[in-house]
Amino acid sequence: MPPAIEATGLTKTYGDLRVLDALDLHVPRGTVFALLGPNGAGKTTTVRILATLTTPDAGHARVAGHDVVTARSRVRRAISLTGQFAAVDETQTGAENLWTAARLSGLSRPAAARRTTELLDRFGLAEAGGRLTRTYSGGMRRRLDLAAGLVRDPGATQVMFLDEPTTGLDPRSRQELWQAVRELSDAGTTVFLTTQYLEEADRLADRIAVLGRGRTLAEGTPAELKARYAAHRLDVTAPDDVSYTLLTERTGPAATRDPETRTLGIPTDGTAAHVRELLDTLDPGRRDIARFGLHTATLDDVFLTLTAEKEPTRV
Ligand SMILES: Nc1ncnc2c1ncn2[C@@H]1O[C@H](COP(=O)(O)OP(=O)(O)OP(=O)(O)O)[C@@H](O)[C@H]1O
Ligand SMILES: [Mg+2]
Repeated sequence: MPPAIEATGLTKTYGDLRVLDALDLHVPRGTVFALLGPNGAGKTTTVRILATLTTPDAGHARVAGHDVVTARSRVRRAISLTGQFAAVDETQTGAENLWTAARLSGLSRPAAARRTTELLDRFGLAEAGGRLTRTYSGGMRRRLDLAAGLVRDPGATQVMFLDEPTTGLDPRSRQELWQAVRELSDAGTTVFLTTQYLEEADRLADRIAVLGRGRTLAEGTPAELKARYAAHRLDVTAPDDVSYTLLTERTGPAATRDPETRTLGIPTDGTAAHVRELLDTLDPGRRDIARFGLHTATLDDVFLTLTAEKEPTRV
């Protein structure tokens, strides 16, 4: 069995902006894969190429064993996609939207009706199902859109693409979506998702790739990435605003900042030597740091460490 997704050398340029620069991806079947990256890193572009909505300038990709350029319709039959922005028909009710999606995906009338009820229920839209979606809140639209993406029999969807599935969802809806992703994955569907929420990637994904400057900056399990890129974080707190400003100038872009508490977090390997060196570099005069603490790294630290360089690649 070929992997769910295999991409080599994917390149995409818009004008003079190189969005993807020889991107490689490998996603084994049945896994949950999260693509992380700052705004504009090329996550949606990657999803659109893999889902056959746009073509790469160079490179190749196979999804469910089919080439995304030369075997588009085969790829399309094997995938399901929920885009970054909700695509619901405002002139229809929630139930009608799902029914239409179910029929389009090939379900029989009774099966479409069953699936519609089931999904309205699962996404907390049972009561609103009969209302025109024009009257839905942003979160309700998002949930309906996600439900539409799950309408197909899980057995028929080999790879599910979810582009920022939980942006704009309240915490409970987010939990429900996570549950739905886990169920899909347990049923054997490969899930490829993008997210800005690192906690989400941490909880859901078997493997994570961090996208930056058009390439994968790092790839691995959440635990591997944490261990490799930011084992620990040194938090330093300034005694006053003047010192806080000075510390901010002396730390690199990889530091986390919290002006409210005048605290900066700096990635470190946690060794005494490095912590000492950091304290000396940040506060040579020994007056700008009032307190410090050492913490185990979170995925946020990894992300900030890896994506510290902000400049996009110009061709
Ligand atoms: N059709 C297009 N024409 C011109 N530029 C584009 C087009 N699509 C994307 N871009 C540019 O490519 C870059 C990457 O966009 P993309 O939507 O892939 O980023 P993203 O990682 O999904 O960002 P976000 O987190 O904001 O959703 C951006 O600078 C964007 O402006
Ligand atoms: Mg995007």
